[in-house]
Amino acid sequence: MSLRQLDRKYLGRESAAQDIEVARTKGAFVYDARGKRYIDFLSGWCVGNFGWDNTAIAKPPARRRPDYVYPDFLYRPWVELAQLLARITPGKLEKTYRATGGSEAVDIALQISMASTGRRKFVSLEGSYHGNTIGTVSVASTEWREPYPNLLSNCMTISPPLGERAIARLETLLKKRDVAAFIMEPISCNLAVLIPEDAFMKRAQQLCRRYGTLFIADEVACGFGRTGRLFASEYFDLEPDILCMGKAITGGFAPMGATIVTARVAKSVEGEVGFYSTYGWHPSTVDVAIRNVRWLIRNQARLLRDAAEISAYFGQRLAAMNFDDLKDIRIRGMAIAVEAGDGDYVSAITARCSKNGLMVTTAGNAITMFPPLTLDRRTAKAGLDILEKSLR
Ligand SMILES: Cc1ncc(COP(=O)(O)O)c(C=O)c1O
Repeated sequence: MSLRQLDRKYLGRESAAQDIEVARTKGAFVYDARGKRYIDFLSGWCVGNFGWDNTAIAKPPARRRPDYVYPDFLYRPWVELAQLLARITPGKLEKTYRATGGSEAVDIALQISMASTGRRKFVSLEGSYHGNTIGTVSVASTEWREPYPNLLSNCMTISPPLGERAIARLETLLKKRDVAAFIMEPISCNLAVLIPEDAFMKRAQQLCRRYGTLFIADEVACGFGRTGRLFASEYFDLEPDILCMGKAITGGFAPMGATIVTARVAKSVEGEVGFYSTYGWHPSTVDVAIRNVRWLIRNQARLLRDAAEISAYFGQRLAAMNFDDLKDIRIRGMAIAVEAGDGDYVSAITARCSKNGLMVTTAGNAITMFPPLTLDRRTAKAGLDILEKSLR
């Protein structure tokens, strides 16, 4: 049987895998088993933010470490990493709960919100995605929830655009003072780089405070520099009560999630919730996460400055391309979306890009691109040339 047939037989997936057998990754490139090189404007979907095989992060740890640490014991690197996260995250976030991935990080946020407020309802954005567990599906777009009628929460949604009408609806929903948390990606990678109005974010935060609802910033995808700031919350001076991390927290070297909360929220659930996770923050994962975050802190200024330049270059090039029925180009840092034509149109372009050696993806009627922040100008040009060529 071919690999494709074996994959179909043994792996659970929604649909057949894309026909790329990955053999190697390096910088902004992915190589398949036949040696074909792809320029990677996908980064594993917001995972490899700092380039694949980044040797500063990948190098083996200096210290000997235990194979495993029982979660209830003390372990210095846990505290080191948690301190680093408290340092780089916005607002007054301080205490971190250890998770194995983004979904678990969001699930923890939902549980903390319910325990802290004694409420059971949530509000999220229509069309949003927050993970694959029953808890996270409960606060996803109504479409994601359809196959599972009896979900945990009573979650209501507000629909983009995120302007005045959305704020009015949010207030109607929060007014009854029975909503535990409002959850959103401050800049939504899942909603094809949806960028809320400043006024929306300011008011949303005020309304949450007024009505005793916690604000959960899901930065699993948009965190760690993706949108041109370390965290997308920074664009809006947002001070979330809870912030979820995953994906690029290890730069792609190992699975990890983290849920950081303010001291006030942590105190409100003390003794009630702990979140035991057997492989949450495994020693080998923690090592690489510490190296990754330290590297990010050291290189932050240069990294974000360079990414801003390349981001502007994407803006110029995309604006000059001949998309059919172009509706919008949305760019924040290295989160890039071009909304044009319809779903079939953007899927056809994506397929041609892949054939021509460029990885991009789609969300609804948009082509979305999440290149590494370390992308150089020459590779950006080469990738954008492929995209242009693939429009027809
Ligand atoms: C915004 C957001 N939250 C949570 C998740 C879930 O993360 P994971 O796939 O690591 O469980 C994702 C995954 O794509 C995501 O985009």
